[in-house]
Amino acid sequence: MNDFPPALDLVLAALEQMRERGEKRPRASRSSLVELRSVRPTRSGTGRSPSLQVKSDKPALLAAIQTRVAVCIKCPHLARTRTQTVFGVGNPDAELMFIGEAPGADEDRRGEPFVGRAGQLLTKIIETMGFQRGDVYIANVLKCRPDMPPGSSGNRPPTPEEMQTCLPYLAEQIDIIQPKVLIALGATAVEGLLGTRGVMREMRGKWHSHHDTPLMITYHPSYLLRTQAPSEKRKVWEDMLQVLARIERPITEKQRNYFL
Ligand code: URA
Repeated sequence: MNDFPPALDLVLAALEQMRERGEKRPRASRSSLVELRSVRPTRSGTGRSPSLQVKSDKPALLAAIQTRVAVCIKCPHLARTRTQTVFGVGNPDAELMFIGEAPGADEDRRGEPFVGRAGQLLTKIIETMGFQRGDVYIANVLKCRPDMPPGSSGNRPPTPEEMQTCLPYLAEQIDIIQPKVLIALGATAVEGLLGTRGVMREMRGKWHSHHDTPLMITYHPSYLLRTQAPSEKRKVWEDMLQVLARIERPITEKQRNYFL
């Protein structure tokens, strides 16, 4: 029993080295290393066999990242122009994690992802899937609103540099939440998660993988708002039906026949 903490230290040191070297297997996420550090060896009722008690404190782990994000100035131009950072919202134990691009003007004002028109459509999709918004987790590739020239409205996509700078925060969020399924909304989310900018028409509706987590790619709600084409809306809904099947949620006849 006395030998146990040094043994754990050795394992942790080895895992940390692997992480530093960028080795993929076995995977040592930042959050699991934090959790392992909090392991306390305990004795069972007989007092003989030591057992591990890993206490998962996802809200605290997420709050710690959120605090770092709130004061992030890695992109000075974005730190200067944002009202506030937009970290992410939802259930730390969510089965589903939706990933968007970046905050727009509404999100920048409110500090919450997907609260504008696209957000209302996303919320409708989530609710039609049988969840409340607070049951799932919603985050973006970028935590700051991409700045726009003075006087111009609208949004611009994040630059590759902005994405590379901000992506480690999203990686940490995913590591902690460990959703059953990730849903990439649009091409920027795909690029952030897979590192490739493919053709949405070809990638959507198929299963991909982000590390070991199944990833469904679908269209961004803003695209649906722009096209208003029922056929495109139906495709997104079919993608969500695949997600429901993957997490083994019963699908009603009404859901199956639904058009967004
Ligand atoms: N579009 C996004 O990609 N994210 C948001 O938070 C809002 C709109």
